[in-house]
Amino acid sequence: MEFPAAPTHRGLVPWLGLLLAVFLLAFWILPTTAQFAIVSTNAAEGQDVILRTLNKPSNVARFMWYRGERTNSKNLIMYVTHLRRYRTGSAYSGREAANLKGHLIIKNVTLKDTGMYMVVAILRNLKIEASFGHLNVYQRVKVPTLLPSITTATEKKDAVVITCEMRAPPTVQLKAKG
Ligand SMILES: *[C@@H]1O[C@H](CO)[C@@H](O)[C@H](O)[C@H]1NC(C)=O
Repeated sequence: MEFPAAPTHRGLVPWLGLLLAVFLLAFWILPTTAQFAIVSTNAAEGQDVILRTLNKPSNVARFMWYRGERTNSKNLIMYVTHLRRYRTGSAYSGREAANLKGHLIIKNVTLKDTGMYMVVAILRNLKIEASFGHLNVYQRVKVPTLLPSITTATEKKDAVVITCEMRAPPTVQLKAKG
């Protein structure tokens, strides 16, 4: 089968083969029943973050979100599906919300929000599915740094490349000839 718009580039064939191999490998590694799982997430401080879950079980009565490790976790928020509302716990900071999709929303994240999160889904048949995930909040780079390619340049001889690094990528290059 051919896609009408497929480019005729030869490089496409090994790519597709590789994708297929990766897909098959992933398929074999995955357990037969897809696990309820929190997607570990990276975010810059100040961002609004959605901590997503995969493979949400059906017929969930409550999603209970906790902050911390298994042995030292604090109630964060509980979403009650039949009420379509959440209730807050002791670790609630006023910036969190939970929803029916089984996601946790944290507004304006700070470095202190970095850590483990746990979600417990209580199903209507009283079965439980749980998962852990990590949120990593990194500091925003505020000050740009100028990085010359060489530290000493001879007048009228050397070309100096000055790289302005804000956040990588992209980088802005300013070329100056001495
Ligand atoms: C986000 O949090 C910082 C403190 O961590 C605060 O100074 C800032 O006003 C907050 N921004 C919003 C939009 O709430």
